[in-house]
Amino acid sequence: MEVKVYQNKMRVAEEFSKYFAAKSNEDHPFHVALSGGSTPKIVFDVLADEFSGKINWSNIHLYWGDERCVAPDDDESNYKMTVEHLISKIDIPEENIHRIRGEEDPQTEAKRYGSLLEEILPKELGLPQFDLVILGMGDDGHTASIFPHELKLWISPDNCEVATHPDSGQKRVSITGRIINNAKTVTFLVTGDTKADKVRIIVDREEGYLKYPASHVSPKTKDLVWFLDADAAEELTLDQS
Ligand code: 6PG
Repeated sequence: MEVKVYQNKMRVAEEFSKYFAAKSNEDHPFHVALSGGSTPKIVFDVLADEFSGKINWSNIHLYWGDERCVAPDDDESNYKMTVEHLISKIDIPEENIHRIRGEEDPQTEAKRYGSLLEEILPKELGLPQFDLVILGMGDDGHTASIFPHELKLWISPDNCEVATHPDSGQKRVSITGRIINNAKTVTFLVTGDTKADKVRIIVDREEGYLKYPASHVSPKTKDLVWFLDADAAEELTLDQS
């Protein structure tokens, strides 16, 4: 596990964009699962505004680690957020965008998306393998849409599951631990002081850390990188990069 700490959100966005441009510069299709929520917005803006010319988007396939079960034009949609902050600003072929269809029946879509991953991702150890999974982390230690009250979904034998937001009851389709931990590389993008206590508990593996889904992210390749701003890292004993 590598922990990178930067002064603020913009610096996280700049450094992650550099990292992404280098990582995705491959001579084979690069399959990346995106996270949702608010943190990625500034990252996607920087990626699109400052790095779009340095990335061969025709070689990149976009997927989502999770999606809210809403229409793609709903303000809650991770797809809509990604269109606004990234997709609308880059030259990426339509066929490279593999959205989770939030408008469909959740169970039906979880099965469809799980099968899609099975069909089009390369396999490693018999399981679909992303080149990169980008994750966020909620204040409650959830990641993708695996929440603490549904930790059992992490060990699902399926590629995708239907999750329920603990407060709103909103249904979500999420990839599961077997997919996340089979990725070549996993990166966390976590900013803000509301995340600091969970970051400390999870990164420092404090007692009880395993009740938080984000603590179960452990790619078999060991290639896990946390991109944090100073606020999210304020309870860690690390030098800032
Ligand atoms: C989602 C995300 C979720 C998100 C965390 C952090 O659909 O909301 O995929 O896992 O990454 O909730 O969200 P913020 O970036 O908004 O804090």
